[in-house]
Amino acid sequence: MSLLTHPHARQLTKSVRATVLVFEDPASQELLKRIECLAPSEANALIVGETGTGKELVARHLHRLSRRGDRPFVAVNCGAFPESLVESELFGHEKGAFTGATSTKAGWFEAANGGTLFLDEIGDLPLNMQVKLLRVLQEREVVRLGSRTPIPIDVRLVAATNVNLADAVVAGHFREDLFYRLHVANIRLPPLRERLGDILPLAEFFLEEHCQRLGYQRATLSPEAEHKLLGHGWPGNIRELENAIHHALLVCRNRRVQPADLHLVELRTPASGSARGPAAETGAQPEVALEQALIALFEKNLPNLYDHIEETLFRTAYRFCHGNQLQTGRLLNISRNIVRARLEKIGELEPSASLTRLAVR
Ligand SMILES: Nc1ncnc2c1ncn2[C@@H]1O[C@H](COP(=O)(O)OP(=O)(O)OP(=O)(O)O)[C@@H](O)[C@H]1O
Ligand SMILES: [Mg+2]
Repeated sequence: MSLLTHPHARQLTKSVRATVLVFEDPASQELLKRIECLAPSEANALIVGETGTGKELVARHLHRLSRRGDRPFVAVNCGAFPESLVESELFGHEKGAFTGATSTKAGWFEAANGGTLFLDEIGDLPLNMQVKLLRVLQEREVVRLGSRTPIPIDVRLVAATNVNLADAVVAGHFREDLFYRLHVANIRLPPLRERLGDILPLAEFFLEEHCQRLGYQRATLSPEAEHKLLGHGWPGNIRELENAIHHALLVCRNRRVQPADLHLVELRTPASGSARGPAAETGAQPEVALEQALIALFEKNLPNLYDHIEETLFRTAYRFCHGNQLQTGRLLNISRNIVRARLEKIGELEPSASLTRLAVR
């Protein structure tokens, strides 16, 4: 997944955009109150939650309820761009600023001017970009790559993360000053297992949405299926629930969902849950988690899935090895040359005849 603002992004996936938000559980109602209370303020916000808890949806809601509601909402996934591109994506560039910059392009900050910029997976932002982001937030202006003219911007920043940023600060992966700047308004999205009262209303909601989308007659959940939904730990949270309902609809008989129609993979017991990210929680059975992640991706019917998986494998391994190609090769048991070629292909490494930025900032 790259840009979340693609006009047809939703049609490309099988997911439905929730127009009605489900916030039934008392924990969710508290959350809703907090969103409503924070929305009108101009403060930057940090949304923290496990994967699939609704971070993007909450960011959109925060935007809609703010005085910027009729201005642009621009969503960018910080982990989706190779390091060499993040800067020009965020801040824009002038024609000729670097090889391949054939025209002038506004960055995401300019695109969001007057509105809200949603930076998803902020923890993936390279450290040198964190410095630049901080400067933009402080000075309220951006300078496009290859230009010297600052452009004033009026953007509210909403960032999201599924890793514990405080830990990332301690580990030296995230700048403390940027952390405090984002931390002003902190919104924690509880995992689904901590808001059990939302499970059935969400399931009903997805059942109806997907029936409509597929042109099916209305379907219902059997009491046994409801029981199974309530007993599951939901490591993938609301997205997992949506996928489970979607799948069940495709296989159920007579418009009634039975327990056997719900393919749920239990990665751990709800009681063992912690507030940490999903990777830490599923650490005991990563093979199962991997398989489940693949199934979720297959269900999304993404184009170029193989390339996407390969890219993720190499990028993750390379970062795990702190940017050391030799170690990455050892980890994956392949030659360093293959590692280098793949890293170049996915843009993690500059090609040997490297793109040189002509501009001096
Ligand atoms: N309160 C809610 N009511 C209805 N649908 C919801 C709610 N919260 C989330 N969803 C749906 O669940 C899915 C996941 O939400 P979203 O993409 O916002 O999660 P996320 O936390 O950004 O996930 P990730 O960490 O994987 O990016 C979306 O299809 C969204 O529409
Ligand atoms: Mg998201």
